[in-house]
Amino acid sequence: MQQGREQEAQLAVTARGDAETARVAAAVAHVSIAGDVLALAGDLGSGKTAFARGFIRALTAPDEEVPSPTFTLVQTYAAAGRTIYHFDLYRIEAPDEAWELGIEEAFAGGVTLIEWPERLGRLLPADRLDIRLNTPPGGGASERRITLIAGPSWRGRLARLRGALGTDADG
Ligand SMILES: Nc1ncnc2c1ncn2[C@@H]1O[C@H](COP(=O)(O)OP(=O)(O)OP(=O)(O)O)[C@@H](O)[C@H]1O
Ligand SMILES: [Mg+2]
Repeated sequence: MQQGREQEAQLAVTARGDAETARVAAAVAHVSIAGDVLALAGDLGSGKTAFARGFIRALTAPDEEVPSPTFTLVQTYAAAGRTIYHFDLYRIEAPDEAWELGIEEAFAGGVTLIEWPERLGRLLPADRLDIRLNTPPGGGASERRITLIAGPSWRGRLARLRGALGTDADG
C-alpha cells in the first residue's frame, strides 16, 4: 500500500533534447502557484538550468533571457503577478548563506526554483516538488530522465500532469 502511495506521488518522463525538457518544464510551470518550491537536482550538465529556462519562458516570454545564476546565485523574473526566483546554490558554503540571498522572501510568496537544493540541508522546505534529472545509461547524449516527486501540495497537481505528459513505463 505504502508503495502504491509513493508511486502516485512520483512521475518519470524521458526527454530527448532541450525542446522536450522545455515542454515538460512548461507543463509544470502551468500548474505552479505562488509559494511553490521546486528543487532541481542532478549532476553538472544534467539540465537543471535548461529545465528552469523552459519553466521561466513558459510564464514570461519565449525569448526571455534566462542566464544560469552560476555567479549571481539568484535571478528574478516578473511573471503574471508573481515573482520567479531562480537560485543556483552550488557555490554557497553553508545553508544560511541562502538567507542573505533573500530565499525567505522567495519562499514566502514567490515561485522558487533551486539548483543544488542539497546545499540548503534542513532549510529546504518539506513541501516541494523535487525534479531529478539524469542521463540514463545507454541513452543518447541528449536523453534525460526527469523524475518529479511531489510533496503534499503537489500530489493533486502531479496527477493532472500525469495526464498531460506521457510517462515512462515505470514512472
Ligand atoms: N534533454 C535535454 N534536456 C536538458 N539539457 C539537455 C538535453 N539534451 C542535451 N542537453 C544539454 O545538456 C546541457 C545541460 O546544461 P545545464 O546548464 O542545463 O545543466 P545544469 O544541470 O544546470 O548544470 P550545472 O550543474 O552546471 O548548473 C546543455 O548543454 C543542454 O543543451
Ligand atoms: Mg545550472
